Amino acid sequence: MSVIKMSSSEVLREAAALLKAGQLVVLPTETVYGLGANALDGAAVARIFAAKGRPSFNPVIVHVPDAAAAQAYVMMDARAQAVAAAFWPGPLTIILPRRPDCAVSELCSAGLPTLAVRVPAHPVALALLRESGVPVAAPSANISGQVSATTPQHVATGLGDKVALILAAGPCDVGLESTVLDLSGAVPVVLRPGAVTAEQLSAVLGVSVGYDLGDHGDQVKSPGQLLKHYAPSVPVRLNAVDIMPGEALLAFGSVKFMGIKGGGRAQDLPETALRNLSDSGDLHQAAANLFRMLRELDRPEHHRIAVMNIPDQGLGIAINDRLKRAAAGSQQ
Ligand code: TXA
Ligand code: MG
Repeated sequence: MSVIKMSSSEVLREAAALLKAGQLVVLPTETVYGLGANALDGAAVARIFAAKGRPSFNPVIVHVPDAAAAQAYVMMDARAQAVAAAFWPGPLTIILPRRPDCAVSELCSAGLPTLAVRVPAHPVALALLRESGVPVAAPSANISGQVSATTPQHVATGLGDKVALILAAGPCDVGLESTVLDLSGAVPVVLRPGAVTAEQLSAVLGVSVGYDLGDHGDQVKSPGQLLKHYAPSVPVRLNAVDIMPGEALLAFGSVKFMGIKGGGRAQDLPETALRNLSDSGDLHQAAANLFRMLRELDRPEHHRIAVMNIPDQGLGIAINDRLKRAAAGSQQ
């Protein structure tokens, strides 16, 4: 029996009741699908970790319907108010100090003095948050270390038998997880690039906001930065300018001049071995397609997935971050 149900007011009421009863409910957001639990209920949050196989040292994002709701759990300074006003609801997560009286389960913070909060822009997510009246802890709805899910079917493949309900609302618009901005210290820093870019954050905060993507070998600030992440089971090769025999191609832009080593052209690849993130080179379209296409090319008959170069600008920074992790996480 499938636990996938299209969102309707009746299904939303059912989902809210399940959440309040401590059950796991998958919810659509504009970024990726989330594996939700009542963040006030420690036993419910613990079920998230068990279902995903997620290490308990990796904290989870808590979703709330608006900035006023976030203020009940975290201390929002003037910087946090400014970015919340500019980007919420939207694909931005803010890490802030927990309030001393914060009622959210400590499991969501994984032992840290901080909590990650986000107001998602998806109407179904917002309706569920309002209907349930509880903050919802929700990591991406995939088995830990695997590619995030951007369709209800992808959620069901990994977690179908572990959740009470998958609230379905089609494919996600953005397709990449939210930008994670750490405002718990004196210097704002982006720990995970996403659709809200460091340039946009810099403009609102009036200071230059940099990235700390955990790739410099010192202490990792965000446990999710652990490199083995977003990994298909087939190896991934980046910045491909040609295709090796046995490889599938994840293209970006025109493949007219792409050849297969030893003879042939990209166009000669079988339908199952070629996906184009965006024929026209559009980064938003590429982001929305990324995880679905990685999954579609992740087939045992492919020795490897070759990925064409993506410009490292704007949303391209977030796409390249996920691709680097996919390449590092797969055994080359
Ligand atoms: O778009 C998204 O953010 C999706 C949707 C469902 O909202 N959620 C998501 O959650 O991607 P998750 O758990 O897969 O990624 C959350 C990231 C992880 O890298 C985690 O380590 C980091 O945020 N994180 C969460 N709380 C943190 C904290 N207090 N300090 C540092 N990093 C934190
Ligand atoms: Mg995740």
